[in-house]
Amino acid sequence: MTAPAHNENQDYALLASGDGRKLERFGRFILDRPAPQAIWEKSPGPWDQASATFQRGEGGSGQWTTIRGLDQDDGWPVLFHTMRLELRLTGFGNVGLFPEHAAHFAWMKRRLLRRDKPRVLNLFGYTGAASIVCALAGAEVVHVDAAKTVNAWASLNAKACEVPRSSLRLLEDDALKLLRREARRDSKYDGILLDPPTFGRGPKGEVWKIEKDFAPLCAALLPVLSEQPAFVLSTSHSPGVSGSVLETLLAPLRGEVESGEMLLTGSGPPLPSGFYARWIPGP
Ligand SMILES: C[S@@+](CC[C@H](N)C(=O)[O-])C[C@H]1O[C@@H](n2cnc3c(N)ncnc32)[C@H](O)[C@@H]1O
Repeated sequence: MTAPAHNENQDYALLASGDGRKLERFGRFILDRPAPQAIWEKSPGPWDQASATFQRGEGGSGQWTTIRGLDQDDGWPVLFHTMRLELRLTGFGNVGLFPEHAAHFAWMKRRLLRRDKPRVLNLFGYTGAASIVCALAGAEVVHVDAAKTVNAWASLNAKACEVPRSSLRLLEDDALKLLRREARRDSKYDGILLDPPTFGRGPKGEVWKIEKDFAPLCAALLPVLSEQPAFVLSTSHSPGVSGSVLETLLAPLRGEVESGEMLLTGSGPPLPSGFYARWIPGP
């Protein structure tokens, strides 16, 4: 599955890839970041014009070097899929946006637009792009993330996109705890989004390990799905947690599941960028 045509994502472009790296334009800055899957020869592109280059160190973190024209502590705006989002250089080499997720935006909107006031739960909500897409499609969104700073970033993005306050609740919580609590309260959702990290921590230090915790999380989804749900969308950037693994975890929901690889396209070969599984109820 490829991200939609670039005219919808005015400020993003994949410029080149290869030799374990990817070169992307995010608004007015070009970033050179690791892409271990790009094992081919470097494709031609403006590699020498990168505003910042990220080198990974031990344990997933790393550092940005060659920073030209932007202050590491400042953000910058981009227009992405009709959203106005703020990006920042983070210590993990991320910038607050996973452009490959845009491949699912139109699908989520279509599934939600057929309903009256749908409710969406976005676990591991990060900086809010998917929550904003759903809120602007008319959903009441509960966005959950363990990190206060990330939720503050999502709030900033939601404001810039003029999301009505009543359409988005940002909760600082542990995903699994929150889901179990919602089940006890008999709270129901029409759409659920799951984009778990390989490793993370809840706000009270709860340890999240995808290989141990993701199956129990998926097993806890059924009680919070509404009678006629719109979708469950699960994505992964963890090596080994492939489309068919995601599909297996959603199979007990007994509907229709499709899965695959997310690809970024632009200049150079298509760049594999994680996996997805999409569930909808059966006919
Ligand atoms: C960046 S997204 C994951 C994106 C992508 N799948 C990846 O692996 O890079 C992960 C988000 O989950 C949040 N997170 C980590 N552990 C969590 C937990 N136990 N409960 C809720 N959110 C958590 C992080 O704060 C982060 O914003």
